[in-house]
This record gives sequence, structure tokens and C-alpha cells, in this order.
Amino acid sequence: MKIAFFDAKPYDLPAFEKYGAEQGMEFAFYDTKLNINTVALAAGCDAVCVFVNDVLDAPVIDRLYEQGVKLIALRCAGYNNVDLGHAFGRLHVVHVPAYSPYAVAEHAMALLLTSIRRIHKAYNRTKDFNFSLSGLTGFDLHGKTVGVVGTGRIGRVFIDICRGFGMNVIAYDKFPAENSGIEYVSLGELFERSDIISLHCPLTEETHHLIDQEAIERLKKGVVIINTSRGALIDAEALLEGIKSRKVGAACLDVYEEESDVFFRDFSGHIMSDDVLARLISMPNVIVTSHQAFLTEEALDNIAETTVKNIASYFNDGVCDNELCYRCGRIETCKKERRERCF
Ligand code: NAI
Repeated sequence: MKIAFFDAKPYDLPAFEKYGAEQGMEFAFYDTKLNINTVALAAGCDAVCVFVNDVLDAPVIDRLYEQGVKLIALRCAGYNNVDLGHAFGRLHVVHVPAYSPYAVAEHAMALLLTSIRRIHKAYNRTKDFNFSLSGLTGFDLHGKTVGVVGTGRIGRVFIDICRGFGMNVIAYDKFPAENSGIEYVSLGELFERSDIISLHCPLTEETHHLIDQEAIERLKKGVVIINTSRGALIDAEALLEGIKSRKVGAACLDVYEEESDVFFRDFSGHIMSDDVLARLISMPNVIVTSHQAFLTEEALDNIAETTVKNIASYFNDGVCDNELCYRCGRIETCKKERRERCF
């Protein structure tokens, strides 16, 4: 089995080499992303292994298919970058549904605490031997209301963490979990009641710009918004306006709508051409990490192990538990029930 591995980073290699060798897989690691200009690199491969910012639109899928590639193995949970409808009947798509919900949920809490206790400011000050406390006043999380959008694997872990802090948790999910003890409310009510909002739902047509100008108008003044899910859940320009008008108290962003052009690369010493991102980063109450929430040792190991298993089971056994099933159009629920191939 030969697999073209796109957007490869040094931290990806050890675990993939270890698990791949056990299955006799040969990885060709490319640091470039997969897109129409780089798709030729996959010629002669059985599968491509891709990450969150690789582009798998219709033209790329057609080229992969023409080149004889059979499988798209996402080494992530989200799959908004794959045109699943176009892949159906051409290429099978597998993903890693869960590798460490703790990694992402804990990062969301780390961002929240950093932001509201001004740790990022304090760190810089004490490095400069400035021990002044002016401007570092935070607020208690205890007793605050957090609104969680999406109560799947990550959202639930985040809820547990918040409960440990003595916060009141309300949630919105299109498919509420039964008997979960979670207080579900409408999205509108969540917007109106939450002191903190954390997004843990997938990016779909429905959730695109879930937080837009209209939503921001409904939020509590001073609300803290956390997004560790996908950038386009938030209209970044509307968020910037919300921050400038003081409606939004703080934003903690691990993802950004236009991140594929900048994240995972070093632009220090360059001129940042994305004005919205540059302006957001310049705000004292905005913290940006570059899609880092998944990045723990445990998660990297689990990602590699599951991805290699997905590829091996597809080619060796003809089945895959983690195929994204497009056939019945119920991707959110169907993938949990199936074991045979989607087509
Ligand atoms: P999951 O599939 O376990 O949970 C997603 C939840 O969202 C489900 O309960 C589902 O019912 C709900 N949902 C679906 N459509 C919805 C809608 N229209 N409105 C509200 N809720 C909706 O997924 P998991 O593992 O919890 O991951 C959540 C998201 O986190 C992923 O979609 C991915 O985009 C993101 N993620 C980010 C990472 C990072 O490094 N920043 C790493 C891993 C995932």
C-alpha cells in the first residue's frame, strides 16, 4: 500500500512511521497541502492521507480518481473540506471520529482561563520584570452560565470540565442527547443567556456563520466566545465589529475562517495580508492559537493508529468502521451504525 501524505509536519511522522511499518505501508510525506496544483503527487498511490486544510473539492477528487487513488483517509474528525457528494461512487472517505476529545476540550478551557485571567498579559509583563497588576482584573467562572453548541464527544467533555468549575451549563444541539442530564435550550435562548459560548458542532451549510452580526446583536454584553471547532462557524468580520463595539468581551479562537492560507506556517518577518486576522490578533481581548487544540501526544498517537487501521481495514478486509457514509445522506448518524463500505 502506497499512501501520499499531504500537509505533513515533523510531529506527524514518528507515529505514522511506527504504525505504518507494522502494516507494511509506504508513506510518501509531502509538506505541501493537497489541492489542484499538487494532486499529481498522488499518482501511483492507493490512498491519500489528508488534514483539515487540504482541499478535496470536485476537481481534485476527479483527478485523484483518474490517477487510480481509491481512498481518502482524513487524519482528523471534521470533513467539511471534502465534497462527500462528489466523492460518492468514486472515492471512499474515512476519518478519525475521535482521538482525544480531552485534548480539544482542555484547550478550549485553557484559552478561556488565559483570556479571562489575563495570563497572556501577565506572562509578557513578568518576563519584562513588570510586576504591576493594573489592567489584569479577571472574573470568576464559578456561577457563570456557559452555552455549549454541539454536545458530541468534545462538547460533553467541555461540559464536564465547566461543571467542575461550578458553572451553569446550557446547550444547543440539533440532535440532543437523550437522558444526558444536559439542559438543552434553543439557539436563540443560548445566545441570550450565556456569559460564555463555546462552539463544538461541525461546520455544515446550516452552521456556516452561526455567529454572525445578527447573532452578535442577541448576545449578552461582554460575552466570551470560544471557537475550537471550525473557523467558518463565525463571521470573522462581524466578530471584529462586535469586539470593536465592546459587545463581545473576549474571543478565544483556535480556528479561523481563512486559516488555510496562514495556519501551520511561520509568517514572522512577513507582512500579514489578512487584515481581519491582523486586526483580531491586535486586540488585547482576542487570543488566537493556530488550530492547535488537537496537538497532544495522546491525540497524535491515536490519530496515527486509527488512520493506519482505517486504511488497512479498507484494503485488507474491504470494510471500514470509520467510513463517512454519504449514500443515505445521514452522515451525522449513519457513520455510527455501519460496517460495510458505503458503495
Ligand atoms: P461529534 O460528532 O462527536 O459532535 C458534534 C455534535 O454537533 C453532535 O452532537 C451533533 O449532533 C452536533 N451538531 C450537528 N449539527 C449541528 C447543528 N446544526 N447545530 C448544533 N449542533 C449540531 O464531534 P466532536 O468530536 O465533538 O468534534 C466537534 C468538532 O470539533 C468537529 O466537527 C471539528 O470541526 C472540531 N475539531 C477541532 C479540532 C481542533 O484541533 N481544533 C480537533 C477535533 C475536532
